[in-house]
Amino acid sequence: MSNPTAPMLLVTREKVKPKNEVSTASPNRRSPGGTSMPAEKILVLNATGKVGRNVCRALREAGYEVYGTTRSSKGTLAEQGVKPVVCNYTVRADLDRVFADTGARKVFVITDYFGAAKKSATLEFEQGRAAIDAAKAAGVQHLVFMSVADAEFFDEHVKHLHAKVALEKYLRQSGVPFSILQPCAFFENLDDAANWNPLKKGVVKFLTMQDCKYCATYDIGRAAAIQLKDPQTWLGKTLDVIGWQGDLSQVAAALSRVSGVPVKAKLAMPIFLRRLFLNDLHHMFLYYEVHKGPRGTPEAFQKILPDALSAEDWFRFHGYYANGEKIAADV
Ligand SMILES: NC(=O)c1ccc[n+]([C@@H]2O[C@H](COP(=O)([O-])OP(=O)(O)OC[C@H]3O[C@@H](n4cnc5c(N)ncnc54)[C@H](OP(=O)(O)O)[C@@H]3O)[C@@H](O)[C@H]2O)c1
Repeated sequence: MSNPTAPMLLVTREKVKPKNEVSTASPNRRSPGGTSMPAEKILVLNATGKVGRNVCRALREAGYEVYGTTRSSKGTLAEQGVKPVVCNYTVRADLDRVFADTGARKVFVITDYFGAAKKSATLEFEQGRAAIDAAKAAGVQHLVFMSVADAEFFDEHVKHLHAKVALEKYLRQSGVPFSILQPCAFFENLDDAANWNPLKKGVVKFLTMQDCKYCATYDIGRAAAIQLKDPQTWLGKTLDVIGWQGDLSQVAAALSRVSGVPVKAKLAMPIFLRRLFLNDLHHMFLYYEVHKGPRGTPEAFQKILPDALSAEDWFRFHGYYANGEKIAADV
């Protein structure tokens, strides 16, 4: 697939900077005559979340002037070179205001069942619909929607994906120019203190020991940049974001190579407790474990983003354990 802008976006494995070594220099573009042109604007919804922060970073590196929504007037977005816009990304009136204030005509849309939608698929759908309708009213030229890989193939118990499927359908019929990204499980789940899984030296935990497909949220942003820079190829299209595949012992081996210390792989909780207390996620993991989903492969994604982060790359990129200690022995 032809993608003349891809080389600009690629960060070689050796050069991946840890997550908090973010350049805040202004993006700059040069016209063919050498004069500088204003960077294109993009609005990133939910810019302070696990996805939003790294999507903002990747889009800045791809040369965009990035506006990020947050409900807080404090925040650290400005320190990352992102222009913060105070906005509840789930509220239509707020979205109308920020499209008008920023003038952005490109937007990265996230919805969130567990956080903003408070475990209601109906509410998540309403929130996503508000974003799509606001984008349409603002005359957005390209909306990138983050869904989930194989969302339509999980069983009915996986309630947290119901709205994703409905929103993909709504977006396709909305008339808004769009692309869809469908990520698999995030590497970020391996260091998720909010969900009782902080990354500690010498151990890595997850809800399955079995083979699993992972991606870095940074690669969701790099994939978005590829779609946004090549609308001819990507408008109306969907891309699975799958960076790497392996079981938890292979994840542990990757962390061991980066940290220089032995690493044990452990279940974050026994499977019977996963079934009992996290039934929705339990059924999601059954799709991975029994049906070997999602169907996409790292090889297919690497055709679009050749240096997609592997587990080892991600630990280098992530940079730090939950307690702030550096992971890599060699930095
Ligand atoms: N975890 C995975 O493996 C995985 C894989 C594929 C897809 N996904 C998808 O990723 C999405 C979650 O993204 P994420 O992990 O980036 O989210 P996240 O980190 O949980 O987002 C946190 C942000 O949400 C905002 N927020 C929290 N409560 C809110 C509320 N009531 N109203 C409005 N904003 C609120 C806050 O921003 P402010 O306080 O700054 O406003 C907060 O910084 C979900 O759609 C999930 O399905 C996850």
